[in-house]
Amino acid sequence: MTAPAEPTADELLGRIRVQGGVPRHVAIIMDGNGRWARERLMPRPYGHRSGMKAVRDVVEGAVESGLEVLSLFAFSQENWQRPPVEITALMSLLEEYIAREADELRDRGVRVRILGDLDRLTPAAASAVNRVVAETEHNDRLRLNLFISYGGRAELVRAAQLLARDAQAGRLVPDEITEADFQRRLYTADCPDPDLLIRTSGEQRISNFLLWQMAYTELFISPVLWPDFGRRELYEAILDYLNRERRFGRVSA
Ligand code: FPP
Repeated sequence: MTAPAEPTADELLGRIRVQGGVPRHVAIIMDGNGRWARERLMPRPYGHRSGMKAVRDVVEGAVESGLEVLSLFAFSQENWQRPPVEITALMSLLEEYIAREADELRDRGVRVRILGDLDRLTPAAASAVNRVVAETEHNDRLRLNLFISYGGRAELVRAAQLLARDAQAGRLVPDEITEADFQRRLYTADCPDPDLLIRTSGEQRISNFLLWQMAYTELFISPVLWPDFGRRELYEAILDYLNRERRFGRVSA
């Protein structure tokens, strides 16, 4: 007897639509580019280039499935410690991604935001980033957060500094600071927290991503290396999420 055929991406999308209630915000740690390249006896930047194609497919899948926010961890603060040749390759891929995709992102209604310590970007990467952010700022079909030069702890320290400055200036009373005051000073101030975090390549770590925001996020670890991840795998993760019960520390209904 032959094994039943794997459902196609469109079939999975159909199931998501029937089930309804997609997550508002999906965050992804895109991992495994290096291993994907090594399996092919190719240098690591080759894996990142293939990873860029996966980004395109997943963004389309996010639009099609009706997500509100897609957050992609593209480059961490720790990634600055990688060999210069790899950093250069990643920065030029970012420029290339924007040059290739900006028009389509704009036409598909995607609003791009770049979150992180952008002062460290090369001038060329910074100007590409500013361009796509400006060109898509009026879109509202999907919000695409690209986290670049980002670290969760650094984001929390930055929020604490902003709070301290406001307290020092008399705009806030320290004892009255609330979680909402803190949240408003994060890069993601105007975003719902992620409902679902996907990490590819089988690694089971948060890796300093969205530490505050992921307090109640559901985790989905995919064994697939990022360059092989696409809308089909995104839909599988969403369907898995739709079958979970989220309790936020409470008991079942
Ligand atoms: C982790 O894989 C991936 C990265 C550090 C970079 C992610 C970049 C892309 C997906 C391509 C560019 C993206 C955009 C948005 C232009 P790894 O290198 O740590 O893989 P490994 O764990 O197998 O070594």
